[in-house]
Amino acid sequence: MKVSVFGTGYVGLVTGTCLAEMGNQVLCVDIDHGKIEALNNGKIPIFEPGLTPMVVHNHQEGRLHFTIDAKHAVEHGDILFIAVGTPPDEDGSADLQYVLAVARTIGRHLSRYAVVVNKSTVPVGTADRVKDAIQGALSERGADFAFDVVSNPEFLKEGDAVNDCMKPDRIVIGSDSAKALDILKKLYAPFNRNHERIKDMDIRSAELTKYAANAMLATKISFMNEMANIAERVGADIEMVRQGIGSDPRIGYSFIYPGAGYGGSCFPKDVQALERTAGHFGYQAKILAAVEAVNEEQKDKLFELISRHFGGSLQGKTFAVWGLSFKPNTDDMRAASSRKLLASLWQAGARVQAFDPEAMHEAGRIFGHRDDLVLAATANAALQNADALVVVTEWKNFRSPDFQLLKSHLADGVIFDGRNIYDPESVEQAGLAYYGIGRGRSVAKAGA
Ligand SMILES: NC(=O)c1ccc[n+]([C@@H]2O[C@H](COP(=O)([O-])OP(=O)(O)OC[C@H]3O[C@@H](n4cnc5c(N)ncnc54)[C@H](O)[C@@H]3O)[C@@H](O)[C@H]2O)c1
Repeated sequence: MKVSVFGTGYVGLVTGTCLAEMGNQVLCVDIDHGKIEALNNGKIPIFEPGLTPMVVHNHQEGRLHFTIDAKHAVEHGDILFIAVGTPPDEDGSADLQYVLAVARTIGRHLSRYAVVVNKSTVPVGTADRVKDAIQGALSERGADFAFDVVSNPEFLKEGDAVNDCMKPDRIVIGSDSAKALDILKKLYAPFNRNHERIKDMDIRSAELTKYAANAMLATKISFMNEMANIAERVGADIEMVRQGIGSDPRIGYSFIYPGAGYGGSCFPKDVQALERTAGHFGYQAKILAAVEAVNEEQKDKLFELISRHFGGSLQGKTFAVWGLSFKPNTDDMRAASSRKLLASLWQAGARVQAFDPEAMHEAGRIFGHRDDLVLAATANAALQNADALVVVTEWKNFRSPDFQLLKSHLADGVIFDGRNIYDPESVEQAGLAYYGIGRGRSVAKAGA
């Protein structure tokens, strides 16, 4: 099938590539010239496991193309995906300017029937606005072509996006057109062979499904962070509690890890946007507000532990920071907890020596050159002459360090473990002080 994908970010590039892998003719379009030029030269602008070889071979075999020519993209596709960003507005609502700009572009160039598929995460009612924008642009040219707008939210996880896209848990399609639904079912048939994954529904339910999924996952995390804060105060270990509750199949082990707060391009903005949508419809979403508030505080947790340990005086201290991306296996630092921590450390007069396996380039782009930041070449290089180690992202490479080596490097002999990846006893046996999240027992032992 002939498919065009607007937006070659985490979602658009992965979607377009997986559709090409299944034999479709895919044209990816972006307004970012640099990105398109890089992609045409076989350079993939993001780190996503398994993506590079897939892009390269589909490109070489002529099924996957990249362009900045939006008119060409509208003319190419029988199916037009919108996969552009929906960042938060000033008040936290989803900013739809990019989605609606694509819709107007489609209306300006449409020359036959097409299915317009909205893959961006958008508030309930956006499909109607997309339809109006396309129709408006068509009317301006005096053109009259039929089209359908479908909601097909994306559930891929950064870090495992290719797998998620090739083997989705579910394919949600919100449509009010039998013809459009049929076309999408054909497009997705190769992804749907093992068992029925398609959940077809009305458009508004599909739009809300995406927000409900992210809000539920964010709620699990904030809930566990709240439990961790209680555990810390009452002298319990949240890791014991986690295992104790995860064994209940009604609760399950997934997504109940306490930590230094959730980040990324989705949870923070989607929880906020859903809360604002509820508000626009006259409902005060109290749980969502609490989920967001707990997370914002949790992002300060590591700094609070650090500050407490050093008696509030961080001037001139040097911190090795392991992990900058918002989670492992991605270079994405959007709304990452590391950013808030670094800002607080700098504000308090401390220096940072940071290392991340994939996000160093992104960190350089975000922070630029500063005297109080060293972007270290390796995890061990970040430790040189540091006073303490802070682990912010749970990359596998950080899980089994040589604690004796850490002890020999860290002048103040202390580890702040923002993802509870270490066993407090092993750390303490090496003669280091240990702070985790919600590990009341070790905090008590460390004499805090
Ligand atoms: N990143 C994720 O894990 C994820 C998962 C599920 C859903 N989503 C949702 O998918 C959408 C896209 O997210 P993302 O992370 O891929 O964003 P992104 O910022 O990585 O990519 C968006 C791309 O769209 C391009 N763009 C903007 N305006 C354009 C236009 N008029 N025409 C063509 N291209 C244009 C930008 O240049 C950019 O390359 C968002 O709504 C997001 O909430 C993201």
